[in-house]
Amino acid sequence: MCALAADSPATEDRSKPVGEGAPGNRIKVGALAELQAKGRQLLKVGNKQIAVFAGESGVYACNNRCPHEGFPLMEGKLTRRSDGGGCILTCNWHNWKFDLEGGETLVGGDKLRRYPVEIVDGEIWLDLTDPPLEERRAAALESLRRSFRRHEYTRMARELSRLQQAKADPLDGLRGALDWTADRFEFGTTHAHAAAPDWLALRDDLAANEPERLVPLLEVVGHLAWDSLREPSYPFPTESRSYDPESLVAAIEAEDEAAAIALLRGALDKGLGFRDLEAPLAEAALAHYQDFGHAAIYVYKTGQLIDRLGPASAESLLCNLVRSLVYATREDLIPEFRAYGEALSAWDGKGGEPVAAEDLRRLSVPKVMQRILRSSGDRKALYDALVGAAAADFLQFDLPVADATERGVSHNVGWLDFTHAITFSNAVRVLCSRHPGLWPQGLLQIGCFIGRNAAYVDRSYDAGRWRVDDPDAFFEREMRALFDHAQPEYIVSVHLV
Ligand code: FES
Repeated sequence: MCALAADSPATEDRSKPVGEGAPGNRIKVGALAELQAKGRQLLKVGNKQIAVFAGESGVYACNNRCPHEGFPLMEGKLTRRSDGGGCILTCNWHNWKFDLEGGETLVGGDKLRRYPVEIVDGEIWLDLTDPPLEERRAAALESLRRSFRRHEYTRMARELSRLQQAKADPLDGLRGALDWTADRFEFGTTHAHAAAPDWLALRDDLAANEPERLVPLLEVVGHLAWDSLREPSYPFPTESRSYDPESLVAAIEAEDEAAAIALLRGALDKGLGFRDLEAPLAEAALAHYQDFGHAAIYVYKTGQLIDRLGPASAESLLCNLVRSLVYATREDLIPEFRAYGEALSAWDGKGGEPVAAEDLRRLSVPKVMQRILRSSGDRKALYDALVGAAAADFLQFDLPVADATERGVSHNVGWLDFTHAITFSNAVRVLCSRHPGLWPQGLLQIGCFIGRNAAYVDRSYDAGRWRVDDPDAFFEREMRALFDHAQPEYIVSVHLV
């Protein structure tokens, strides 16, 4: 039974430190009889506030700050459990309920920190010893996993913070999230994976303090939770077979996930890592103008993420990457981009005509392909011209198109169509520099973006309005703004980063 002498704290109890230090981390609260008379008592020890409650079934001590939003549990309501086995403390701010006897959070999420109580000769003693760091890390990680499954955003933030306070590598929270979701993506890699290296770079380079360091990490973990929310398991085949790069490319081309994953597992069994596999993965990604450039972007970004997180995360990231390549939509097979395949077949790398960005603008996809072929002999000049054209088109994007509702779905074009041309170009630069045999595919596919976007460019538009006088200050400001981007959807913030 949990009968209390009082339902709310006496005023003096909330203001005065009454604890008395003792050897170790034990602390004397005071006489049991006194607490029983008051019902509850607030104890201040250093920067801790501890609420101590008395009842017929026992004395309980816990943090005064509610683990939800920090409101004082001293103001909470104590009731007895229906089975009479102990006390339930209800935080009246949002109705979270804590079993003070067993320690479970009955309504709500985070666990309440309780302190062991001992009564010696009528005096109450508390043991304030923190649990071992390893135990705290494991508890925070488990609680993060629970909150992750339901995308409990603020709780995930608190658990990541607890991981940090327990001196764990906070990236373990992200590694955990990747493990928990390894088989939850029906079509493999998502934007959450792809943007992770950039969020982590923001964290490394610009976070000014520990709370800020949590923000980009939470963005990644939260996005993974969101993308996998209520998704069932889509298990990967477990077979492993002898790996060779040509077979991996062929299996992806054949859209045969079972074979592709078996070959990937064979490679991993041989101890190969991402860098060993990058060539066939990049080849498969650029085998088509596909997934609106995401295939190549995902290869590039998966490599960065594995580099950042270490090889333990490689298997799940690579399985999802291969799955995404298998399921990629091959836009070069639709009429709008069919000229790509013809141009690739005609590529001889000997086109000697000088090229500049303006030469590649205002052209349809077939005409861009032909223009690229005429300058195929100088890859660097061609690449610079293509990126210049993509950037100039972006500056003159006909903005009303983004809001138009009267056009058909094929004209559903927005700023992302233009930024993807540039993001894809960057992936092409990196992948093709390492694997030069892929330059023809990469360059022609950048041309696909430019040819497609040409219809949505307003050449009369004054691009000067976007001029930035101080680029360093601009980037500093815009990058810092990402810490508080105010975007309600991950898919938007992910494209900002
Ligand atoms: S602050 Fe206690 S339930 Fe919200």
